[in-house]
Amino acid sequence: MTDRYQQFSTSGVGRLLVRRLGLPDPTPLRRYRPGAPALDGPALVGGAPGGRLLDHLGTVLKSAGIEVAATADGVRPGALVFDATGVTTVERLRELYNFFHPVIRGLGTCGRVVVLGTPPERITDPGERIAQRALEGFVRSVGKELVRGATAQLVQVAPGAEEKVESTLRFLLSGKSAYVDAQVIRIGALGGTATEPEDWAAPLAGKVALVTGASRGIGAAIADVLARDGAHVVALDIPAQGADLAQVANRVGGSTLQLDITAADAPARLVEHLRARHGGVDVVVHNAGITRDKKLANMKEAAWDAVLSVNLAAQLRVNDALLADGTLRAGGRIIGVSSIAGIAGNTGQTNYGTSKAGVIGMVDALAPVLAERGITINAVAPGFIETKMTAAVPLVIREAGRRMNSLSQGGLPVDVAETIAWYANPASGAVNGNVVRVCGQSLLGA
Ligand SMILES: NC(=O)c1ccc[n+]([C@@H]2O[C@H](COP(=O)([O-])OP(=O)(O)OC[C@H]3O[C@@H](n4cnc5c(N)ncnc54)[C@H](O)[C@@H]3O)[C@@H](O)[C@H]2O)c1
Repeated sequence: MTDRYQQFSTSGVGRLLVRRLGLPDPTPLRRYRPGAPALDGPALVGGAPGGRLLDHLGTVLKSAGIEVAATADGVRPGALVFDATGVTTVERLRELYNFFHPVIRGLGTCGRVVVLGTPPERITDPGERIAQRALEGFVRSVGKELVRGATAQLVQVAPGAEEKVESTLRFLLSGKSAYVDAQVIRIGALGGTATEPEDWAAPLAGKVALVTGASRGIGAAIADVLARDGAHVVALDIPAQGADLAQVANRVGGSTLQLDITAADAPARLVEHLRARHGGVDVVVHNAGITRDKKLANMKEAAWDAVLSVNLAAQLRVNDALLADGTLRAGGRIIGVSSIAGIAGNTGQTNYGTSKAGVIGMVDALAPVLAERGITINAVAPGFIETKMTAAVPLVIREAGRRMNSLSQGGLPVDVAETIAWYANPASGAVNGNVVRVCGQSLLGA
């Protein structure tokens, strides 16, 4: 759907008015295009003394085709990457200021700030733990100060997981993370192995990915992106969506499965289908979701039950069935689709907010258990995404949802899909137990 305000604000007269009146200024975001450079401009890399990651960063960036600049002199950096694992005391937080202060203004359009630290709960020394926890406030504040579509993230790398950061850095520095802003990502906190794909442009080659609710909206975009990355996509939706579902499956060279995931026999039918046709499945994306909004006092039981059933209970039954007999293969991925309504809550959405917070609970509860089997579970929590669902929201609420974030615009379905594809990558085996918001640093639940 079209963001008319963004079109206006980037026109000649619009630009002038936006500047004069201090109106929101949504920069068209840099998104991934095959073959395009990973970054517009070199990365400026620094680190606090004694850090664990600095040496490794050069190798990773080189492998990703990103040039590293030695100084900011005469260049407009596309990214500022800082290894803060050496920040072991509160005094050493000054290293952040020393690195970023002189160069932050020069960061390019849709540039990236990435700070790397240590998961605080892995640290026993209180001073170091406090200093590492403090990094989060720095990144979230920088995210709010950055302009022209630039974003900031904190990546917490567990000791021992230094060599497992590549898929995450590639994702965060590229246009694939366009609408992910001010997030904290954990790598290696639950172990996990990172298998480098033979071809980074097709990391899912040979994999089978199930996408529920794939006939339209975000689900269709997930099917597109996972197929682009080489997966065979099994596109699932309810029979009433059969025609649209077939179109998506044809477009991505995948196959269809018409199934209501809430049906009592759905898990068994799913297992049977995946085993018979594909010998199993590697990536499961629980995208199917519904809303039945009403304030709690006016909500019918059926509206409560339907939302909890599609958005949460059915997903747990499907997981159980896929895990019981190894239909979800070793190295498998389960990916949930939560919502910022599951984090911040929302008027008229007690049912939806409960179900989407439950998806976060599913990630928390299952991640340590599945880690032992070499399977990861993560979720995305989208904010305002431009879909038919959000097009139906009344204008004033829609405009508020769109602008109340650091990027002053809504995200696109592809932004959610790219985040899911990063989780699905074989090189993301140490990315487990994360809930990453795809919300442009929305003010809701921040
Ligand atoms: N659009 C947004 O801004 C936004 C924000 C946060 C979260 N989300 C979440 O993203 C997901 C996709 O949202 P969307 O905007 O693309 O919605 P959508 O309504 O366009 O698509 C949802 C799909 O799920 C399918 N589905 C519903 N019930 C099903 C069932 N019982 N069995 C199988 N399939 C079923 C629908 O037929 C539909 O094709 C949902 O989980 C939604 O809650 C969306």
